[in-house]
Parts: sequence; C-alpha cells; structure tokens
Amino acid sequence: MAFLDRPAEDPSELYDREAEIKQLRFSALNRAVTLVVGFRRVGKTSLVKAATKDIVRVYIDARRFEGMAYMTVRDFLNEFAKSLSQLLPFSRRLIDFLSRVRGLSIMGLTIEFSGSARDISIPSLFDALNDWALSEGKHLVVIIDEVQELSRMRGFNLLPVFAYVYDNLRNISFIFAGSKVGMLYNYLRLNNPDSPLYGRYMEVIELRPFTREQSLDFLRRGFDKAGIAVSENIIDRAVDELDGVVGWLSLFGLTYISNPGPEALNRTISIASGIVEEEFCNFVRAMGSRRYVLVINALKQGATWSEVKRYLELREGRPISDSEVTKLLRRLVDNGFIMKVDNQYVIADPILRRISDRVRCRDKL
Ligand SMILES: Nc1ncnc2c1ncn2[C@@H]1O[C@H](COP(=O)(O)OP(=O)(O)O)[C@@H](O)[C@H]1O
Ligand SMILES: [Mg+2]
Repeated sequence: MAFLDRPAEDPSELYDREAEIKQLRFSALNRAVTLVVGFRRVGKTSLVKAATKDIVRVYIDARRFEGMAYMTVRDFLNEFAKSLSQLLPFSRRLIDFLSRVRGLSIMGLTIEFSGSARDISIPSLFDALNDWALSEGKHLVVIIDEVQELSRMRGFNLLPVFAYVYDNLRNISFIFAGSKVGMLYNYLRLNNPDSPLYGRYMEVIELRPFTREQSLDFLRRGFDKAGIAVSENIIDRAVDELDGVVGWLSLFGLTYISNPGPEALNRTISIASGIVEEEFCNFVRAMGSRRYVLVINALKQGATWSEVKRYLELREGRPISDSEVTKLLRRLVDNGFIMKVDNQYVIADPILRRISDRVRCRDKL
C-alpha cells in the first residue's frame, strides 16, 4: 500500500477496509440502494471505486454540481451519458438496447442525449439498462457520489425515478455516497411519508476515521513502501494533528516523501488549512450568514448548545433566539462540519478544529 494523491481504484490500494469492501460488494449486488456516508476525506470514494472495480457500473461525481446555484436534469443526463459511454467498448449489445430509448443517440462510442429534456424518458432509459443487464446475466450498479448535490436540480425530481428502479428493476442498484450526511438524508427524504422513497430499506455503510493504532500503522507502512525511514516521534506528532483522517495522512505521507524533514508536517497542515477554510467559507457564503463563523469560533474545544448561545450573544451584544441557535447548529451538523457527541457539539475535522478560532471568511460575505 502506497500513499495516493487521488481516490483508490483497486482494493489492493486500500489500507484496511476489508469488512466495508465485503459489505459493499454484497450490498451492491443484493440490495436496491446502499448509502456510504462519512466525513470528508475519510475514504468513501476510494472504497466505492475499489469495491466495485469488477462490477458493471456507472459512476457519477455529483460534486461537479456543488458550486452551481442550480442544475438541470440535462446536466445530470450528460454526466450519466459520459459514464455510460465507457461501457460501450465492453458490450456492443448495449447499443441495441439503448437505441430504443427516445432522445438518446449513439455516435461511435459516445452516448448523447439530444433533443429537449422533455423528450427523454428517464424511466425508459433505466428499463433499457435493466433489460440489457438481464440479458447479459449481469447486474448494473449506478453510483452517485456526493448525491446530496443533486438537491440543487430544478424543474425535475429524480426521486420518483429512483423509487421506480427500486421497485421494478431487479438488475439495477444504486450506491449513494455523501460527506454531508444530513443533506443526503434530507435530499432522499426517507422519513417523509410523502416522499417517493419513504419506508424503503437501504443498507447503510458508515465509514469511520482510522483508530490511532491504524493511523500510525498506515503511516509506517506507507513510508516503508517508499523506502524512507521516518522517526516514530514525527509519525506520532502527525497522528496527533491529523487524527485518523486518511486523506490528511496521505497528504502528509506524500509531502514528507517529496521533501523529507520535520517541516513536512507544518507544510501539510498549512495546505490542509487552506483547503478546509475554503470549503467552510464557501458554505458560509452559500448560507449567507456570518453567524456560522462565530459558531465555529466557539467550538474549538467543543461546547454545549447553551454555551454556543451565550457565545453568540456575547459577540453580537444582543439576544439571539433559541430557534436560531438550533438552526445554525443543525445546518453545521447536516453539512458535516460538526457532530454532536453526548451534550457537546464538536468540530469533526482535526484541521478545521485547529484553525477554528482564527477562521473569519472575510472576503466571502
Ligand atoms: N483505505 C485507504 N487506504 C489508503 N488510502 C486511502 C484509503 N482511503 C482513502 N485513501 C486516500 O485518502 C484520500 C481521500 O480519500 P477519498 O476516497 O477521496 O475520501 P472521501 O471520498 O471520503 O472524501 C485519497 O487520496 C485516497 O487515495
Ligand atoms: Mg469523495
């Protein structure tokens, strides 16, 4: 296992995660929908890609839509077509099945949706894919990574399509992955009796950070593989700062290897801080309220609901309603920035925790 600068594609590239791979492979082939949830950079995309490497799949990265104010079903279909095109070289018969789908055209090895979105029947696209999979004795897995970003789709609701596939098409299943776990559940509206997906069983795989022991072992092995000797002291300090977040540990490993020395940890923290601050401040801008910054400032060591409220009132010099405090905290939880542990709200990511009292997001509002 070597340190990677991008998501893993093969199980052999993954440290640990054997149990999750096994569960995901079983679930992908035997359950209609599998949810893979966990905080940013914990290894969801890597797990999903590696575990489904030899399974017929369509992979859509909905992060593409993250920065957009809104998206259309057309944007989604274009991504779908791009990924589906990659299956054509392996099955000429797929073309026969797809040619029945209205609004879809195939040129060489490229699938495109032409005509207006209204001309395209998405259920019939999935019907054709299911018939094809059935005829080949295969199972097609449709993976939508960071699926909650599809909530910005306007003019079309994909949930009835997902429900249709769930109920009728046995040779197709979905894997939905997401870092913003609350947003993911809000999007799928599983607990809402009016929702198309209400009451449907979904297998949930929650990916957790590595334990301290695993993190130390992960770094030792990575350096070993690179043929570089690194002192236990440095490895220890790296895990103190980066916790069990595999994305940060990998970044540290790569940074150290490219330029060995005790400074590598500081360089890693500085790069990671930039990334995290940008992500958080983008969220603050999208929400349009500085109060999220104040809450994060208050949470450096973790805090209770009342402590957060008191802090906000102190900083603003005026009363703030209970419902406002609850809303701020809930949105931060839903977007995967903080979590509730017993009575305390704590910042999930070690880097955001580290810089939390200094974050200002000045130019973002
Ligand atoms: N089990 C693992 N073993 C080794 N490296 C991993 C593992 N999981 C993730 N990584 C690495 O960590 C980084 C972040 O992983 P990624 O899958 O993109 O996380 P997520 O999708 O949860 O944000 C990538 O560079 C990836 O290669
Ligand atoms: Mg990912």
